[in-house]
Formats: sequence, structure tokens, C-alpha cells
Amino acid sequence: MQNPSLTSQQRDIRQTGINPNHWYAVARSREVTTNPIAVTLWHQAIAIYRGNDGKVYALEDRCPHRQVKLSHGRVVDNNLECAYHGWRIAGNGECVDVPYLATNQKLPNCKIRHYPIREQDGFVWLFPGDRNLATQLQPLGLPEWDHLNYIATVSIIECAAHYSYLIENLMDMYHGHLHQSWQAWADPILQDIYEDEGRVDAHYQAQSYYKIDKIWSISQLFFPALRRLHSEPLDVSYIYPNWTSTLGNDFKIYCLFCPINELKTRAYLIHFTSLNAFWRLHKLPVAFRKFVKNSLFGSAQKLLDGLVLQDVQMIEEEQQAYLAHPEQKNHELNRALASVQKLIKIQANPS
Ligand code: FES
Ligand SMILES: [Fe+2]
Repeated sequence: MQNPSLTSQQRDIRQTGINPNHWYAVARSREVTTNPIAVTLWHQAIAIYRGNDGKVYALEDRCPHRQVKLSHGRVVDNNLECAYHGWRIAGNGECVDVPYLATNQKLPNCKIRHYPIREQDGFVWLFPGDRNLATQLQPLGLPEWDHLNYIATVSIIECAAHYSYLIENLMDMYHGHLHQSWQAWADPILQDIYEDEGRVDAHYQAQSYYKIDKIWSISQLFFPALRRLHSEPLDVSYIYPNWTSTLGNDFKIYCLFCPINELKTRAYLIHFTSLNAFWRLHKLPVAFRKFVKNSLFGSAQKLLDGLVLQDVQMIEEEQQAYLAHPEQKNHELNRALASVQKLIKIQANPS
């Protein structure tokens, strides 16, 4: 039952759906092999696999024969073979083989849904909306992923909460208080907000704890004692449905959202440390630079996982508090969050 004392905004935001007409990161490229995996994107169960042609395919995770999960099956050629009776479904959703089909029987006409899918910058992206729009829109680019001057770290966020809580956390830089010894920034001041129907940009001025100007500066990621505060611009953007942030010249972070349902969100947090300051390094052979990039992959893992753990705890508590007492009103001072909620609603209910 809806509480009549709530404003419509309070009533809705924690139940708002997604705009399906965007590309969503649903898996890391390296997770997708010839062993199918099951993913869920806003209530849709999807089986993803790599065919023997190396391409990635995405099918509704439902065998058209008796509705069991196709993701329990195996890949044969470029088709997905159901574990139960061995029907084979092609990447376009059509049944192409039934092992016990009698000579007087025809293959059943039982096409299931298949999704536009792409691999880009280390992730597998899926378009759950109108497939005619898929080619007109692009997944969010992560140009640092393959760039030799950036070291990547990936942390997976799994939280039992609506995605609005996660994006609000990421856009509200005043929550640095939570992170204490993991803290990457301090004393933020919100200066400007830009908003349109596709994005919200919030510009803060803050103090950064890190400066990557010597090759050993990367050890600041492991040893808090090596960090020193200096002023840096801190920009955060909700580029629907994903998030990006830059802190000075040294850090770039992305959060790729895969909302599962009203109470569950999965996301990938990708942190890039820039090596742009080391011009001498850039004169070295590409093979060596690749080696440096790959060897340092994950160097911010402990930092990133530590931050995620603290954030997820708060986000889940917010969700639980909302479920227990939806009538309790937040007292929000950060105007970026009003812009975020507005964008979520515009996207979920385009006019
Ligand atoms: S349920 Fe899939 S083949 Fe029978
Ligand atoms: Fe945080």
C-alpha cells in the first residue's frame, strides 16, 4: 500500500526502472567463454556465451522447449545446446536442431529473444531496448583501457539496493568522510552542476591525497603514509546509465551499471592511474610499456575493494531503512542529488 503522506518523488525513485535504450555492461570480456554464463539486467535473465567463431552471443535465458535455463547448457559451434534434451538454439534465437527429431517431424518454430551485444574496452555490452536503436547509440568509451599510459584496476560492486542509491553515492563527494584511511580526496566543495536530458556533471574543488609524479608514487595506492594533500578539481558525471570521475590529472574512474531489479544492483568500478607524467617511460619500446601496464594491472585493488565495501554497507542500509520506513524523509543538502533523481526519472519515462 502506498503511503499518501509521501510526495510522488519519494514514492517512486526507489522503484524506478531503467531506460532500456542504452548499452549496458553485463560482463567482463574475459568472463565470456564457450562456457555460457547467466546474467540479469533489469529482470531479464540472459545467457551469454562465446561461439567457436570467437563472437559473443546473448540469448534470453530460457529454452523454448520446457523453459529451463539455457545457460546450463554448452556451446556447440556457435549455438547453445540446452542441457535437458539437447535442443540447439542459434545466436539469432532460432531452434536449429532437436537430436531426436523424427523424419516426419519439422523443427519447431519457436524463436526466443536475442540481444544486440558488443565487446568494447574489456567489457561485454548489451542493448536491452529497441534493437533498431542499437546501432545509433554507442557504449560508453573507456579509452584508457587499451592506452599504454594508464594502469587499470577493476572492482565488482554487488549491492542489495536500488541503483539510485549507488549513483547518489557516487555523485555525492561529501561522503569522503566514510572512507577515512582509504580516502582519496578531502574537503570537497560543489561548485557547478550541468544537467541535460542525458547527463549530470557535478564539478567539485577538492584536496587530493595522491600525486603520481614519480614512478614510486604509485606506492601511495598501498601506503597511506606516502600521501600528501594538494588541491585538485574533482569532476563526477552521471552519463546515463553510467558514471565517470576525474580527480586532477592522475586518476580517472568509471562505474558501469548493470541494475538487476529494484533491490539488487551490479556494477563495475574501473580505476585508472595515469602514467602521463613519466615522459621518459613513453620513449621505451611499446612491448616494454605493455609489460609495465599489464604487470601493474590491479595495483589499486586493495584501495578500490576497500572503498566499495564501505560504500556498499551504507547503500544497503539506506535501502533497508527505506523499506522499513518509506515515510522517513531524507534531509539532503547536495543539490547534485536532486539533478540525479531528475535524470533517472526522465530516462525511465521518456516523453
Ligand atoms: S528443456 Fe531444453 S531441450 Fe528440453
Ligand atoms: Fe565511496
